[in-house]
Amino acid sequence: MRTAITVPELREFKRRGEKIAGLTAYDARFAAVLDSAGVELALVGDSLGTVIQGHATTVPVTLAHMAYHTACVRRGLQRALLLSDLPFASYPTPSRAVAGAAKLMRAGAQMVKLEGGRSRLETVRALVAEGIPVCGHLGLLPQSIHRLGRYRVQGADPQAAQRLLEDACLLEEAGVDLLVLECIPATLAEAVTAEVSVPTIGIGAGPHCDGQVLVLHDLLGLWPDGTPPRFVKDFLAGAGGIEAAVRAYITAVKAGEFPADIHCY
Ligand code: KIV
Repeated sequence: MRTAITVPELREFKRRGEKIAGLTAYDARFAAVLDSAGVELALVGDSLGTVIQGHATTVPVTLAHMAYHTACVRRGLQRALLLSDLPFASYPTPSRAVAGAAKLMRAGAQMVKLEGGRSRLETVRALVAEGIPVCGHLGLLPQSIHRLGRYRVQGADPQAAQRLLEDACLLEEAGVDLLVLECIPATLAEAVTAEVSVPTIGIGAGPHCDGQVLVLHDLLGLWPDGTPPRFVKDFLAGAGGIEAAVRAYITAVKAGEFPADIHCY
């Protein structure tokens, strides 16, 4: 029987230099495949708004949707740590965030993720004070897509890069246990990873993060218009099956072979 991954253990991965392999999961059967393949982090991402519900953005996703999919994924996991997203506009105040996170934790999450930096510090502290592990999310923030205009690389100019680095340090001080970095230059992700003691998990953030996460459907080559984002690789092509594709992804992440230069900004 493999022992379940705990939140404190994530830091051990960083300490011993072992990359953390993460993937999104939205249902029990795929969660079980990820788990038996050896994924350490199963993220019930609000990306379910696009890949499961067929919306153009994550904005329509509600707390009820997240709790439902979290409960589904919980039933499929034995070892992987279950991280769930607090969805769009569900954490405008610390107390609303705690109430929402409690729903996700009761559904089976072991950690919750929220988007944003310095504006979220009070919220992170309130969650941590309730014993709720928190994952920060910096860089491209999909819940802010209508402010951003389009999905594109963040932190590319020196001021934005400096601000992101500061945000990472502030989130660490506030108590996050994990930090997702989305769509930022590989050099910036490397600097953040060196600066903070909590593990960084990259998606479109280069090979120097302490771990990687991908949307499961992207890894399986299921892209809506046939054109993957730069940071995505189809691991199903040539793998012979879904579990083999997940294993190939984990092997490539652990070996530092994914992401390669062609997947980086
Ligand atoms: O919702 C999601 O899948 C995510 C990843 C992009 C990290 O937050």
